[in-house]
Amino acid sequence: GHYDTGGYEHYLLKEISEQPDTVARTLRGRLDDRFHIAHLGGLNMDARETRSFRRVKIIGCGSAYYSGQIGAQLIEELARIPADAEPASEFRYRSPVVEPDTLYVAISQSGETYDTLAAVQELKRKGGRVLGIVNTVGSAIARECDGGVYLHAGPEVSVASTKAFTSTAVAFALLALHLGRVRDLSPADGRRICEGLRRLPGQIKEILALEPQIKELARKYADSPSMMFVGRVRGYPVAREGAQKLKEISYVHAEAYPASELKHGPLALIGPEMPTVAIVPDDELLDKNLTTLGEIRARGGRVLMVGHRTADPKLADDCVVVPRNETELDPILLSIPLQLLAYHAAVALERDVDKPRNLAKSVTVE
Ligand code: AGP
Repeated sequence: GHYDTGGYEHYLLKEISEQPDTVARTLRGRLDDRFHIAHLGGLNMDARETRSFRRVKIIGCGSAYYSGQIGAQLIEELARIPADAEPASEFRYRSPVVEPDTLYVAISQSGETYDTLAAVQELKRKGGRVLGIVNTVGSAIARECDGGVYLHAGPEVSVASTKAFTSTAVAFALLALHLGRVRDLSPADGRRICEGLRRLPGQIKEILALEPQIKELARKYADSPSMMFVGRVRGYPVAREGAQKLKEISYVHAEAYPASELKHGPLALIGPEMPTVAIVPDDELLDKNLTTLGEIRARGGRVLMVGHRTADPKLADDCVVVPRNETELDPILLSIPLQLLAYHAAVALERDVDKPRNLAKSVTVE
């Protein structure tokens, strides 16, 4: 049936492996190749209203929040609207200023996370306009929002979110394209993003084919007491989600930092017993990232680089090379190997992969 592991050893591996299809489902019927726009009928907003927002505020919890950080960057880059993400749990308790020209976006796989639901209700009480990016159709958060985008990723059973995380980032790319094309995003850039989005399922397949290599790396690094994850700008939310996945299912301590912040403190932790996973896309920050890798190596730190090129062996012990897409969309692909890394670390350490200790799939209480 629909809810068994379909021959996979764990739901988590099944859900990771499904991503070429689930991403295709998130995109289905939403890309317009003639005008290079996204069709998102569920937003319930006309062009004039869509143009009226001066700010975007994204809320969610845990991995949903990290995917929201990717989303905020996509909206700023493609639509040039100031955007940021915040944990829903914090947002609702700090008596936020709710502005009429801000578009609020709530993210939830389950649609039932209490902190996110309560934040949406608080926003609605104060007259905020809230969209939902939600997987579960008809869920409490979906019903509470003024409109939104369903992920159509299918049921996610394993406690650790994977396919919903990826589809949320894809949904944000669609939203950013939509917001961008009613503003200043050119048809040429719209086309570039549409074409990039269409390449994602095939490229995810290519990354899944790296599983044997990533499994070996997971075994090699899994016995570390602690791991550092670093990235810059687009790579930073990827690093945060990678650290979260590892902590959740393997119980290996992990920290995520912007690579630029290392020398302001956490570099003191680096040494042979604390390896670093570095997210290094081939973007305008490549040289700066490589300099950081040199600094880590100079302190005896091991480096596993996830990016687009094989690094000089002086800079990285190991490299996972993923296919390139458009720079703005690359974070979506860079996240996938980190899911496999966490999965195989958890398996190597014989953890309860689908039901990690102390965690529930959806946190419906405060
Ligand atoms: C993801 O791996 C976590 N289990 C968790 O952070 C989750 O993303 C968070 O609780 C939000 O859940 P939701 O998307 O169902 O609202």
